[in-house]
Amino acid sequence: MSVEVAVASAPPSSLDSDWLFIPIGRRETSLPIEGVDAATGGELSRAMASGEFTAKDYHVFVTPVVDSGWRVRRVALVGAGDAVEFGPDLLRRLATVAGLTARDRKATRVAFVSRQPLEPSSSRLPKHAQVALAQAIAEGLMFATFDAGQYKTEDHDVWDPHQLIVSLPQADAGTMREASEAVRQGAVLAECMNLARGLANEPGNRLRPRDFAERAVDVASRAGLQAEVLGQSQIAALGMGLLLGVGRGSEEPPRLVVIRYTPEGAPARPVLGLVGKGVTFDSGGLSIKPSQGMERMKDDMAGGAAVVGALCAIARLKAPVRVVGVVPIAENMPSGHAIRPGDVLTSASGKTVEVMDTDAEGRLILADALWYARQQGATHVVDIATLTGACVIALGGAVSGLFARPDAWADTVRMVAESAGDSVWPMPLVGDYLEMLRSDIADLKNVGGRPAGAITAAMFLGEFAGAGPWAHLDVAGTAWNEEAKEYQPKGPTGVGVKTLARLAFADFG
Ligand code: BES
Ligand code: MN
Ligand code: ZN
Repeated sequence: MSVEVAVASAPPSSLDSDWLFIPIGRRETSLPIEGVDAATGGELSRAMASGEFTAKDYHVFVTPVVDSGWRVRRVALVGAGDAVEFGPDLLRRLATVAGLTARDRKATRVAFVSRQPLEPSSSRLPKHAQVALAQAIAEGLMFATFDAGQYKTEDHDVWDPHQLIVSLPQADAGTMREASEAVRQGAVLAECMNLARGLANEPGNRLRPRDFAERAVDVASRAGLQAEVLGQSQIAALGMGLLLGVGRGSEEPPRLVVIRYTPEGAPARPVLGLVGKGVTFDSGGLSIKPSQGMERMKDDMAGGAAVVGALCAIARLKAPVRVVGVVPIAENMPSGHAIRPGDVLTSASGKTVEVMDTDAEGRLILADALWYARQQGATHVVDIATLTGACVIALGGAVSGLFARPDAWADTVRMVAESAGDSVWPMPLVGDYLEMLRSDIADLKNVGGRPAGAITAAMFLGEFAGAGPWAHLDVAGTAWNEEAKEYQPKGPTGVGVKTLARLAFADFG
């Protein structure tokens, strides 16, 4: 499959596409594009007047074009509800709704028209804002190409669009030049999100630690990155007792994937370190989880997948700084070899950990990986993990928890995440709570009890994250969408890919 993603400044009447999607809000009394109503024989205004289409959020109204002078054959209105402004987050969602509609209808050539401010109707957005909207639209359209049905042998709907167009009627040459590049970047970011979604969607039996490692290396080398896989003996030689311990219950030994991006001429510092939890299946180990909902734990490697996807985007978009990605991979299983509650493990950093609960495995493997990222010279580290149910309770399914130090790094990660469209909220690292992690027998316990469960998990990681800037994203609630929404199908979301990728373009101060 190869899809062309492009911008077009042609007026909609001469746009070379099959479908044209037009976002429109409930408060708008007229159509934002001249001549479009006449081209449909007045169907659009009729539908709006009769109440057949009221621009309710994400509702779609499709009608044929009857004017044979137009090349577009279908026009679709996409409802933006009460919105008074078309920002990038809204247009990204509306573009996904459009893409999913086009997918349903097997449309292969699709255009989505961007918007200008409603009030005053004479004003135009500044160039940078138009460019940001164009990128968000490209992301939204490309996001809709994701295929989650790879194991269906019947009724498997694949969508293979040929052309996705972001329509910017009357944009000037300078805007078109920048928008064209932004759209290319948006398409790459969404493709890399889809890659991460594909990995997170793989069942535990189809993506064992060896498979995940192989696919990560495959993706990385195709993007021109250097990648290596450390096996069990190398992990042991590095003294990574926590990663080894978590992997011990599985038939499949753990792996450590290391991906390096070293652009020519890049300065020695900063080095961005990206660390992602790669538990291919989390049964809980001997502290086994209840069977209800356990199947979802196939996505407990979504953080690792986000790191792989982000590095792929970083290489394709040619970020200016060095990046090292570290993905510790293990399957958390109960068996005669498995670690037991009460066991004491020694980490690569030398700190000892009493394993109170084998289901708090993510922080164990991340601890060794964070240490390794610093060993490899990472100056600024971000880890991403489906780490705690407590974070799901605190922030739900729409917002990821952000824990970071120092404040300047927290601000950077937060700003980049917000502009990328990954919603995050700052959570505190509370020094006093380290007491909850004190063990009678070792340096640390791996759980601190029920109160502040997301914070104590982050504090545990912080003990291994070194002295430099470090951020932790808890995506337990956001990596998987439990309930299908018009703009977000059920399943893996690709959360974090855009944030991590765009961080490689950030100002490191
Ligand atoms: N992978 C889970 C966290 C999780 C929960 C992810 C729900 C997605 C949805 C993690 O390994 C885990 O089991 N955490 C435990 C920690 C507890 C034992 C301290 C939890 O949150 O219950
Ligand atoms: Mn667990
Ligand atoms: Zn887990």
